[in-house]
Amino acid sequence: MGEESLEIEQLFCTLFETYGYDFRHYAYESTRRRVLQRVQHEELSSISQLQQLILKDENIADALLRDLSINVTEMFRDPLFCCELRQRILPRLTQHEHIKIWHAGCATGEEVYSMAIMLSEIGLYSKSQLFATDFNNTVLDKAKHGAFPLQNMRSYVQNYQQSGGNQPFSDYYHANYSAAIMAESLKKNMIFAHHNLTIDQSFGDMNMIVCRNVIIYFNRMLQERVLQLFFDSLVDGGFLCLGSHESLILSPLKNKFKIVSSEYKIYRKISHSKSG
Ligand SMILES: C[S@@+](CC[C@H](N)C(=O)[O-])C[C@H]1O[C@@H](n2cnc3c(N)ncnc32)[C@H](O)[C@@H]1O
Repeated sequence: MGEESLEIEQLFCTLFETYGYDFRHYAYESTRRRVLQRVQHEELSSISQLQQLILKDENIADALLRDLSINVTEMFRDPLFCCELRQRILPRLTQHEHIKIWHAGCATGEEVYSMAIMLSEIGLYSKSQLFATDFNNTVLDKAKHGAFPLQNMRSYVQNYQQSGGNQPFSDYYHANYSAAIMAESLKKNMIFAHHNLTIDQSFGDMNMIVCRNVIIYFNRMLQERVLQLFFDSLVDGGFLCLGSHESLILSPLKNKFKIVSSEYKIYRKISHSKSG
């Protein structure tokens, strides 16, 4: 192991032991790039100096956490995936008395509000519960609040329409200065919770798990842990939706899922019962 990777390992041990955030099994190259950017930004001369600094200064640790957790998201991100969900997948949940959906790594929540809109439009929201989790409390608070930059709404309307939405999008929020405040009716069946995919346990009986653009940042070992967690959290026949650059293909769990859409990375847990 080179000196730099050793320093990074020590930095991540300190971050874990002091603040409980575990980046030790994230994909190496992308975490390395972000650590070096933080070293440069703080005008330090080495990663070891950064390690010393985060021990003393929680603000620097927070900044590093923000760098490493990558919270980029948008409403109706990947509209063709959303269209597939709206037209082919969500209607298959109609038969259930209650529908439980888990958004793991929800960031600031745009994804979960998009889901609430789609479920409302096909008449399923009233019997759905949406669990939205992230390990970053700052983004989770924003998600709970449901206020997004008003200037983003223009591109979100386009995404929404491309995803097959045809209602006036402005019905789903009201403007308050520079913020778009999402309608209370969308929030009513949402539950936000802190959950760390690297250490926390499964959530039970999910009909669908949406975890997009999260495991791409993990190494193979951590990806396997998380996929097992999802397998354990899904009911038989439950759907797993991954991001466009993520897949089950290399996982030993792939035989326990059926591919529903290889294009949109949608999988279904193979049912043990005949009725499925
Ligand atoms: C790029 S965002 C994806 C947001 C949304 N799923 C989407 O596709 O637009 C990745 C999110 O995963 C979260 N994340 C990263 N590692 C995590 C972990 N170990 N446990 C829970 N959330 C994590 C980050 O905090 C971030 O909010």
